Formats: sequence, C-alpha cells, structure tokens
Amino acid sequence: RAGKIVVVGSLNMDIVVKTSRFPERGETLSGQEVHFHPGGKGANQAVACARQGHETVMLGAIGEDAFGSSLAESLESSGVDTRYLLTKPGVATGIASITLAEQDNSIVVVPGANGALTPDDVMAWQPVISEAAIMLIQFEIPMEVVSAAVHAAHKAGVKVILNPAPACEIPEDLVKKVTYITPNQSELHAITGIDPSADGLESAMDALLARGPEFVVATLGSRGAAWKERGGSLRRAATHHVDVVDTTGAGDAFNGGLACSLAINREIGDNVKHGIAVSALAVTKFGAQDGMPTLQEVELFKSVHENEGSC
Ligand code: RIB
Ligand code: NA
Repeated sequence: RAGKIVVVGSLNMDIVVKTSRFPERGETLSGQEVHFHPGGKGANQAVACARQGHETVMLGAIGEDAFGSSLAESLESSGVDTRYLLTKPGVATGIASITLAEQDNSIVVVPGANGALTPDDVMAWQPVISEAAIMLIQFEIPMEVVSAAVHAAHKAGVKVILNPAPACEIPEDLVKKVTYITPNQSELHAITGIDPSADGLESAMDALLARGPEFVVATLGSRGAAWKERGGSLRRAATHHVDVVDTTGAGDAFNGGLACSLAINREIGDNVKHGIAVSALAVTKFGAQDGMPTLQEVELFKSVHENEGSC
C-alpha cells in the first residue's frame, strides 16, 4: 500500500490572459481571452498526486474570499484532503497573474494568504506530517515555514521532495534534510551560480549535491530530466513528443508524478520517468490543475511511449 503524501505549499487563483505576444514596456495590448484557473505550485502538485489515486493531504492557506473557497473546492473535487487548510482572516487568497503568449508565459504572483503562513501553523500540522510517507514542498510560502515543515518531516522520518521554485537563497541546514531536490534549469543556475545550459549541468548538480540532499533531479524542459545520487553518475531520461497547449504547471506535474512513484517505492529512474510522463500529459491541456492526468491515462501513455523514454 502506498503511503500518504502531504503537500505543504501555495494555493493561487491563476488569472490567465491570452495574448498573441508580450506587451512592450508601457504598451497597452488587447488580449484575446481571460480565464480563472485554480493554481499555485502546492495545490497543483497535490492535484497531480490525488488524480493518480494517492491519498494526498494539502497543508496551506486561503483568504476569506470567493477565490479561496473555489480553490478549496477544486482540490476536493480531485480527491485532495483539505481538512487542514487554514483560512487567514484579513488577507486575500493568493493570485498569479499569468500572461500566456503563444508557447511562452510570464507570471506575477501575489502571495496573500500563502505569505501569512507561520511556523506555528506547522506546529499544529505536526501530527498530520508525521503520519505521511512523503512530503512535497516548494518555495511559494515563507522560508521559515518551509524550514519548519522540512524539519518536522525529517524528525519523523518522512521523505522530503523539495521543489526549489521559485528559486531563492536556501538555508544550509535545509538541503541536508531532503531526499530529492528538483530544480529546473534556471533554478539550478540561480541556486548554484553555475550555468547548466552549456557543459555546466553536472558541475551544477554536484555543487547542489555537496550541500547534502540524497538526489538532485534536474528538469530540463524539452531535454527531459537528469538525476544524480551522491557518489553516483549522471543519468538522463528524455521527454516525449506531445502537442503543447499550456506549460503552466509542467514542473508541478513532474513533481507530483515523481512523488507518486516514490510513494510506491520504485527506484529513482522509474520515478523520474513517471514524472516526465505526468508532465508530458499535463501540458497537452489548458490550465495548471485542470490538465493533471489520472493514473490510467499515465499508464496508457507510458505503454504507448515505452521505447522513447531513455537515452
Ligand atoms: O507552477 C505553476 C504555478 O505557479 C501556477 O499555477 C501559478 O499559480 C504559479 O504560482
Ligand atoms: Na496544463
């Protein structure tokens, strides 16, 4: 039986505006469509896990407004346990203002209730955390909250997947307590100061490994993913060719898939490939959460694409 996954992180309402191109500085541009999509890295990752049939608990905060209740409902309809979600009085629910131009996007996040989380909230969540098998956590909530949660998980023997997004300075003692750290290319660059795009990938991953996690898993967009264990060698998995509709939440889909596979004790290479498959399916649909695939969809996709996955 798979262990429970606990996701500690953000919930945002994604306000998505579709345009043909990004506006120039100072320019007013007419957009084509506006959509309100449930999002936030934490909530997206929780939905990715729950849709694959895993018992998933969301630990985070919303404000006392319509966006907040709609985000909670969205999680529930995907089967996420929202009983421990907090409502922060006097602050707005987090929003992400997303401009979607062709295959590119840009995002401004206003944390609101996500930013109002405190280490005391983590104290109250401690019993839920210690019951879990895996904790998934990102950087869209205050760093002291991340630290408290990772510490609580570590103390209880819960494996931690740290998705360092968006990139920021990471306290030294934090990375030591995580099993997987999962930066994308730009996060890996920002965290280590080493540019992974040319030949720097392995040195950047080594620099991060030296800080103490068990594995570094780097997502490389269309180039798939790479991973390395301390003392191990660099391994890679390719991505699949799909018709991309919306890349928002691609990283969240990957992390959710990775966590689900780890929860059933598969080995690292299989976990990474599972994450890649979940992400490949997610980007074929519009919206960060709406496109998260079910386990059946992922297994079917993997069996069809079996021979593409490795290199
Ligand atoms: O990772 C994608 C998410 O980042 C979006 O859903 C948006 O809310 C931003 O936080
Ligand atoms: Na999507």
